[in-house]
Amino acid sequence: MAILVTGGAGYIGSHTVKELLKRKYEVIVFDNLSTGHRELVPGGHLVEADLRSLEEVRDVFRRYPVEAVMHFAALMQVGESYADPQKYYVHNLVSSLNLLQAMLEAEVKYFIFSSSAAVYGQPLEIPIREGHPLQPINPYGASKFMVERMLPDYDRAYGLRYVSLRYFNAAGADPEGQLGEWHDPETHLIPNILLHLLGRNPGFQVFGQDFPTADGTAIRDYIHVTDLARAHVLALEKLKAGEPSQVVNLGSSRGYSVLEVIRAAEKVTGKRVSLKFGPRRPGDVPVLLASSEKAETLLGWKREFSDLEFIIETAWKWHLTH
Ligand SMILES: NC(=O)c1ccc[n+]([C@@H]2O[C@H](COP(=O)([O-])OP(=O)(O)OC[C@H]3O[C@@H](n4cnc5c(N)ncnc54)[C@H](O)[C@@H]3O)[C@@H](O)[C@H]2O)c1
Repeated sequence: MAILVTGGAGYIGSHTVKELLKRKYEVIVFDNLSTGHRELVPGGHLVEADLRSLEEVRDVFRRYPVEAVMHFAALMQVGESYADPQKYYVHNLVSSLNLLQAMLEAEVKYFIFSSSAAVYGQPLEIPIREGHPLQPINPYGASKFMVERMLPDYDRAYGLRYVSLRYFNAAGADPEGQLGEWHDPETHLIPNILLHLLGRNPGFQVFGQDFPTADGTAIRDYIHVTDLARAHVLALEKLKAGEPSQVVNLGSSRGYSVLEVIRAAEKVTGKRVSLKFGPRRPGDVPVLLASSEKAETLLGWKREFSDLEFIIETAWKWHLTH
């Protein structure tokens, strides 16, 4: 039996494929390579196809004995989702519906969903626990919320067991140096700092220096991508052991301001960032921080790689060689 990994040629998907292969799972990657890269698929079978086509999705379930689905494939640029919400609802919502329909037809019962802290919207309390109200403030977050909202209905009516994993900021790269973050355009802080230090991102700027935080810059929760990947394997194993559906945050429960991340990057690389400040971006909140208590107690998950300097060291190693 195989695990179908949509978006397995992308950043988080490829790291998860690697963890699955290490544990001897057979893996089928389903990816249209729109933002992913063939070179990032560390093994298994790659099916180049598009989730927006129900026929292409059905076809993969006919060809392979799929036991469970991990659904990473999505678009995720918040700014673009404001400008073109239709694109986001089609890519993130219609694609998920196609996948769920094909799963029902093929009687596949286990589903691990890549959700996001964006489902919470403006935090009402920190750290954010899973019971926090869901009030997404952009179409990207809304598209994730809508999929999450459907899943309990599929569980009740069709016995689909799922784990929705709400990621905070994925960061870092495979400690063995084989995989890393490869987005174009890159919108995430750590790769943008590192690309700037490599002379490949001259326009790098810090968005906002007037947040109500100690140094005025926004605080975020960074989780190492391999810690994230391992949580998916744990979630899959819980479902296979007969445990019920769950919603779980994945963060490190530690917050760093943008300036703290920049200082850590300077320390790791021995280079200096030339600091420029720009205005806050719409919708950016001062602090986003996960409670990871549920991931620890329910999945038995532990932070192993999510120390900030280690995150930057692994990302730096990747960017130096790619
Ligand atoms: N990177 C983060 O910090 C972060 C945070 C929260 C949530 N997430 C979620 O995690 C998931 C993975 O993020 P990532 O950073 O690895 O993104 P990514 O862009 O690197 O990977 C997404 C993959 O999905 C594929 N894809 C997109 N649309 C497709 C379609 N219609 N059919 C088939 N394949 C398609 C892309 O080619 C790519 O390989 C996404 O669902 C994202 O919303 C990411």
